Formats: sequence, structure tokens, C-alpha cells
Amino acid sequence: MHDFEFKEGQLWCEGVKVSSIAERVGTPFYLYSYKTLTDHFLKIQKAFAKLDPIICFAMKSNGNLNVIKSLVDLGAGIDIVSIGELGKALLAGADPKKIVFASVGKTEEEIAFAIETGILLFNVESEPELEEINRIAVKMDRKVQAALRINPDVPAPTHEYTNTGSLKKKFGIDLGTSRQIFKAYKKYSHVKINGLHIHIGSQITSGVPFVGAIKKVITFIDELSAEGIKIEYLDIGGGLGIIYKNEIPQTAQQYADKVIPILEKTGLKIIMEPGRFIVGNAGIFVTKILYVKDNGLKKFVIVDGGMNDLIRPMLYDAYHEIVCVAQNKGARQKFDVVGPICESGDFFAHDRLLPKVKKNDLLAVMSAGAYGYVMSSNYNMRPRVGEIMVKGDKFKIIKDRETFKDLMRGEKIVTW
Ligand code: LLP
Repeated sequence: MHDFEFKEGQLWCEGVKVSSIAERVGTPFYLYSYKTLTDHFLKIQKAFAKLDPIICFAMKSNGNLNVIKSLVDLGAGIDIVSIGELGKALLAGADPKKIVFASVGKTEEEIAFAIETGILLFNVESEPELEEINRIAVKMDRKVQAALRINPDVPAPTHEYTNTGSLKKKFGIDLGTSRQIFKAYKKYSHVKINGLHIHIGSQITSGVPFVGAIKKVITFIDELSAEGIKIEYLDIGGGLGIIYKNEIPQTAQQYADKVIPILEKTGLKIIMEPGRFIVGNAGIFVTKILYVKDNGLKKFVIVDGGMNDLIRPMLYDAYHEIVCVAQNKGARQKFDVVGPICESGDFFAHDRLLPKVKKNDLLAVMSAGAYGYVMSSNYNMRPRVGEIMVKGDKFKIIKDRETFKDLMRGEKIVTW
């Protein structure tokens, strides 16, 4: 569900015509609907109301200050993975007591800044990391709270690169090592290990893997409690799948109905870390056709956006629906939709059925709100595009397109 709809043959975002934004700001750009963004957050909040969880938006999925602030204003916490994300979350007004910090490679500088800030929990991904957090906390004379990120080793049907809950992956701590850590609990004088965390992967459409992982971790919590170790927080991670093509993902309510009965019994404070579910369908990527060419074997639509702007098709072979911003009901033919970059991997779609399109037509690459802008780069010396948000019948530029000066920042010709 989203607020990008065709009315009278034109694509609108809420109350604004997408083509009118393109006329004003130029292409390409990312476009977000405030309503879709916040509605998705509210859907999770409503479905899980019974547990009153801390919903920490995974800002790695979309780090725009306005996106974060829109959610923080509704009560969201933030799931961060770096010092940069922490700084930005604070700028957006996030409450440190609703910030959780995962990452397999936290640096000393990052740990110290997070301690200084007073975040809610470190989601710890290894024993040496726990030792490091304790060492730094001792040095700073501060007590901190931590959750062990358990790697539950459950199968999760998703792309190989976004699967994180198996022991073949670098994430989290296996149950055996976790047991050892709790046995040696006292050696961590300045870290209170009072939480457990799981995150088994991303774009998982079925509820089964989540339930399996949650059950596994609750069994472990029961085991710990029998030994007198008290856990207060359970962070069930993110990973909820969305519709890109013809997926039938579980809804927030269906997810809640499956897991609330299990979680409720534990009496633990629940934390969630959704990213894609909130922002994925709240954003599109708008790009303009530069040329159409036919080499006898294939037809290509060459657009002004490229893999540097949206890398998901290249990286994960991800499907994104592509529509003409001005509806075109002509007979459809197969096209490869490609960018200007000097790589064959620079594509948005292969053999995609599109009507007869022409130079200067606008295309919208749908469901691009999550892992779109944040994964963009300056490859081929291309400036990062602008980001626009619509709220009702207004739109605002929430991040300027980069300039040549931005591209050159910090670079200098040295003399030898
Ligand atoms: N929590 C942790 C610890 C994570 O690592 C992630 C995502 C999330 C929460 C949020 O997951 P979500 O609800 O968005 O599925 N670039 C890939 C996705 C990478 C996900 C990384 N971790 C893509 O474009 O599909």
C-alpha cells in the first residue's frame, strides 16, 4: 500500500503531480510520501500496541534527516550501525534511550561516543567486542547495557547477501559462546548484559523464520532464567518483507498475531528494528529517458539515472516495478532499462514490458525508498541525486542534488 497513484493519466504522490516536481527540480531524484512513510510506522505501532514495543527504525534503510524526524516525532527509536548514524539520529531529535547499536565491527571511537551519548543498548556481536566495550566503559567510568546478538542459525528464505541468521554468516554470537559469556558474566564489571537480540535477514515475506528464531531465543532466555540470569530486553530485529512484484508478505497485523502470544508470556520489554517495511514503498526513483535504441536484437531505454543511484537491481538482481509517469496505454514491448554508466550491470530492468516510450518521458522506479539513496555512490563522477518529500499537496527538497564542488571535496593535487 502506498500513496503513489494514477489520476487522469498522471502519476501523483499524495496531492502532487510527479511530473510537476520533475519540472521544478530536474531529474533524477528520489521522492518520498510522508503519508506512506508514517502510515507504515503506525501500522506496526498499532499491530503491536499490546506489547508497547520500542520501534527502532533501521536508519540504514533510509538515513534522510526528514525521514528519521518524521518517525521520531511519532515515537520511533533508531537502530544504528555507525557513529555517523548515531550523530544523525541525534540531530533528528532521537531519544538516546531509544537507540540500539548493532554492527559486527564497532570501533573504539564509536563505542566511546555511544557510551557518552547514553544509548539504550549495545547489540553485541562477539565476545571480543564485549570485552572492548567493557574496557572502554571502565576507562570512562560509565556503566552500560548490552544485548547479545544471538545467531539462531535458522533458515531464512531471502537473497544470499541479506541472510544474516545462519552460522555461515558473520553476524551475532552462537548459542554455545553465548552460554560461556553468561557464565563469565562477572568479568564484565561495567556492562550489564540484560538483553538478547536477533536479526535473521531482510525481505523475509513469511512469518515462519521469525517465529522459529524467536522461539529459539526464548528457550535460551528460559535456560538463563533457571540459572538466575535475568534478561529485560528482547530485540526481535527487522526484516519484514514488502511487495516489489508479486510477493504476498505477511502484514504487520499477521506478524503481530503470530508473535505476540509468544512474546507476551515472557514479560520482556520488546524492541523491533524495521527498516524496509516502513520506508520501502514510501519512496520512488524518478528518472528521465535520454535515448531509446534498438540494435536489432534488443531494445534499450537509456535513462539519466544509473546503478550509482539505485544499485539494488545490479547487486541483488532485485525487481523494481517501472511505470511511465504519464500513463501510456500503447502496445507494450520488451526493453532493457539501463543507465549511462560504463558497466553492463548498470540496469534497472531486463526485458521489461513497456509501452512505446520516447526521449524526455519520465519513468518511476517504484518501491525505492529503502536501500536506495543510502547505497548510492559517485561512481563515474556522478553527483548524488536530490531527495524530495511530499506531504499533502506540498513538496519540499529535503536533500539537494550534489554539485561539482561536492564531488571534489577533500581532493587535491599534491606536488612531489
Ligand atoms: N536490524 C539489523 C541489525 C539489520 O542489519 C537490518 C538490516 C535491519 C534491522 C533492518 O532490516 P529491514 O527491516 O530493512 O529488512 N541492502 C539490502 C538490505 C540489507 C539489510 C541490512 N540490514 C537490500 O537492498 O535489500
